Amino acid sequence: MEQFNEKEKWSEIWLEALKSNKTIGFVPTMGALHQGHLELIRTAKSRCDLVVVSIFVNPTQFNNSSDFENYPNTLPTDLDHLRQENVDFVYTPSPEEIYPESPELKLYFGPLESNLEGGFRPGHFNGVGIVVSKLFHIIRPHFAFFGQKDLQQVAVIQRLVRDLSFPIELVIVPTKRESDGLAMSSRNLRLNKAERETATILFHSLIKAKKELIEGKAWFEVQKEIQADFEKNQLTKLEYFELIETASFEIQTEFNPSKKSSLVVAAYLGEIRLIDNISINF
Ligand code: PAF
Repeated sequence: MEQFNEKEKWSEIWLEALKSNKTIGFVPTMGALHQGHLELIRTAKSRCDLVVVSIFVNPTQFNNSSDFENYPNTLPTDLDHLRQENVDFVYTPSPEEIYPESPELKLYFGPLESNLEGGFRPGHFNGVGIVVSKLFHIIRPHFAFFGQKDLQQVAVIQRLVRDLSFPIELVIVPTKRESDGLAMSSRNLRLNKAERETATILFHSLIKAKKELIEGKAWFEVQKEIQADFEKNQLTKLEYFELIETASFEIQTEFNPSKKSSLVVAAYLGEIRLIDNISINF
């Protein structure tokens, strides 16, 4: 595995790869790698000749400075994982390499921007859009791999690729879960024992709500019941539990089985904010 910090280095490698008709798969990350990331990497390895992973904790996507400061940094272990997965290249740029100056450009993603993650984390998707665009321009991959766990981020990046005509195929990889159902996330590392045990409430509430909707219970009743479940639990604070149309991310007031829909949740466990989602009908 070759580690590089400068885009000029990658341009040389990229040119060689292109000359020998190799397909390039790209997995952007912020490090603190877990099995969910490794799943993205394994999918990339199975589909592409060369796989490049980036590790960059992007300051512009954090709307909360303490979240940014406390974001786990586990670079030596991350590099070990990547070596074990036979990743070909890892890009570990400095903040100056990515942001030689702070961007004036602002990206706006319409309704995706104002509801749910967009509403609760103002500026987050602008930061994601800017850094992903920069990384796409630097790496110039054929394929890029993202996890379904960050469903709204997936919708934002699909929009970015369409609106800016990036010649990149996006591959969305299903959420990897712990054996008790908790969606894998770098933030799980920051949960204490009691919070970790309680964190399964997110997944269990999604499963319960999906079952009840499929059985025909009205959405407003299901939502009220789930909100009450969270209220009973001292360790969690629910931010939202919503039914959305998957493609547009529009919040639904009732379940329409003919529309592709998902359930999405965000909740705090102590100081740690977790998100999860489940699709109801594919
Ligand atoms: O999903 C993430 O880890 C980040 O949002 C991403 C896509 C690497 C951009 O910083």
